[in-house]
Amino acid sequence: MSDPLTPYGNKPMVTPIVHAVNYEYRDFEVLRKITDGEIDGYTYHRDDNPTVRAVEKAIAQMEYAEDCIVCTSGMAACTLAYLTYLKAGDNLILFNDTYGANYKVSLILERLGVEITWIDADKSPLLGDYIKSNTAMVFLETPSNPLCKIIDISAARKAVDKVGALLVVDNTFATPFHQNPLKLGAHLVVHSATKALGGHNDLMAGAVAGAKKDYDRLWFTRQAIGSTLDAYSASLLERGLKTFPLRAKRMAENALKVAEFLKAQPLVSRLSYPGLKDHPGHEIARNQMRGGFGGMISFDIGNDEDDAKCFISSLKLVYHAVSLGCTESLICIPFLTTMLYLPPERRTTFGVAKNTVRLSIGIEEPEQIIEDIMQALSKTGGSMADKKPENRK
Ligand SMILES: Cc1ncc(COP(=O)(O)O)c(C=O)c1O
Repeated sequence: MSDPLTPYGNKPMVTPIVHAVNYEYRDFEVLRKITDGEIDGYTYHRDDNPTVRAVEKAIAQMEYAEDCIVCTSGMAACTLAYLTYLKAGDNLILFNDTYGANYKVSLILERLGVEITWIDADKSPLLGDYIKSNTAMVFLETPSNPLCKIIDISAARKAVDKVGALLVVDNTFATPFHQNPLKLGAHLVVHSATKALGGHNDLMAGAVAGAKKDYDRLWFTRQAIGSTLDAYSASLLERGLKTFPLRAKRMAENALKVAEFLKAQPLVSRLSYPGLKDHPGHEIARNQMRGGFGGMISFDIGNDEDDAKCFISSLKLVYHAVSLGCTESLICIPFLTTMLYLPPERRTTFGVAKNTVRLSIGIEEPEQIIEDIMQALSKTGGSMADKKPENRK
């Protein structure tokens, strides 16, 4: 019987969106071969889906992985990694400067008996000192969210090897265009594919890539808990992946220009972009990243939260929104947004201030982004001037 999608052998240019939840078995022999793992076949969406499988293979290739599991969100991907490899009594090392929702997941893991150690990214050179005999996993981000700190992935691998723990790197900020953690020694690489891989603010997805044996273990968890991505989002993600390298290159070029501009602005302090030579992690970033340093920048504006709010409200091109890595430039105050997952007393302990902003650079003309920031800064300057005692009524 000819394939109804390719009756004359002409293949569609994009992977078809297969919405089917279940598949009719051709016969009992095919059913047996699928269930025995002798052939790749589709039976039920929670197990596998051809549209999803196509993006899994594409992301695996980008990350130099043997295979990849794609799921419903970046946090689902992080959680798949935790649930697959951790058990009661294990120690998990997490960095404070990590996407905030990991804190919430850590509370669930603690309830299940996992012991958590929190470290500041600045302390990462001392990682070996924090590793204990029961440390089963170290999970890190580099550049980190939101402060764009850099952690040496190869050094972290040496540290985890002391006890045979797993090194997991969230590569969302760096993207596979600039950094491939598996090549640097990580055992697993995690992505919020909602961000630069998708790139257009229109899908949520997550990915965990690694060796075939890890794919099998992660697949078991995903099938059990039911976090397989839907076919439509997988198709959007496949579309995003086609332009991803072009977008990533442009974002990094833009970000460097914007960071250099910001460096000279009196209202900007604690500027953090790993591409700047005076960034404390610049040398490590140069060694483990290539083709640029990504599109994420963080900095403090003026003196307080009101200055940061005034600056953001004055922007016309850059959107005031969370998320990152998409075609448009986005800005937010982490203290009021991405860090709401943390109790207030934890939000500022590792360096995030109430006037810290996180800027995700898009693919606009760099001059347009700089012009917008410049006009917003001029208005923020006005707001700061208003605060001078002589200007108060
Ligand atoms: C670095 C990083 N990892 C993971 C996530 C979670 O991704 P998602 O929102 O797709 O669940 C985010 C979200 O912003 C992130 O920035």
